[in-house]
Amino acid sequence: MNRSVKFKLKNGKIITIRRVRGTDYDAMMKFFDKFVKGKGAKFTTQYPGQPKKDKEKSIALYNNPNNLFLGAWDGDELIGESTITRVGVDNPYLQGRTGITGTIILDKYLSNGLGSQFKKYIIKWARENGVQRLEAEVYHTNIRSLGNLIKAGYNIIGIKHNVAFIDGQWLNNYILEKVL
Ligand SMILES: CC(C)(COP(=O)(O)OP(=O)(O)OC[C@H]1O[C@@H](n2cnc3c(N)ncnc32)[C@H](O)[C@@H]1OP(=O)(O)O)[C@@H](O)C(=O)NCCC(=O)NCCS
Repeated sequence: MNRSVKFKLKNGKIITIRRVRGTDYDAMMKFFDKFVKGKGAKFTTQYPGQPKKDKEKSIALYNNPNNLFLGAWDGDELIGESTITRVGVDNPYLQGRTGITGTIILDKYLSNGLGSQFKKYIIKWARENGVQRLEAEVYHTNIRSLGNLIKAGYNIIGIKHNVAFIDGQWLNNYILEKVL
């Protein structure tokens, strides 16, 4: 996805979606700082006080043509990001056929259709870039994300037990897959 597109959220707000580039590093770090302070972070591996992501590595990751990092902007503010990372592109056995996907959106913008819109672009990019299966992992309590993924055609194919201890409870991870 090379151009930016406008998208109208269910609440009527118009936002812009485009590829995150290396030059967006500072905006991404600000976004993570906000995200970890919100409720959504407890459904992810992000946490308050986490070390800042390495600048060089992050820029290489954003600019790598084997990944797609999409950002959603409300004006100048980055309010959501969605990623697909191809696994084993150089490995002749794996051939980069699997794409690991994930999305995080600031609390204020949840359940407004943005997650579904992100998924459409991610799936389109996957099809155009030789990805044959998508994979995602979600805590078993993350009903919104499970709903979002199942609506996009993912199926639950496995479970990892007791992967994280959050609010006094051990959480399981569902592994989800969508074969393209
Ligand atoms: C998970 C997430 C990416 C979904 O994006 P979203 O913009 O909130 O979801 P959408 O508005 O696009 O909803 C898509 C579908 O998800 C499901 N969904 C959304 N909100 C839901 C809720 N509160 N409860 C149950 N299902 C819900 C519905 O099936 C919905 O389809 P519908 O609107 O036709 O009913 C987003 O909520 C998020 O960033 N959450 C915090 C971080 C996180 O959990 N990330 C994923 C795990 S790493």
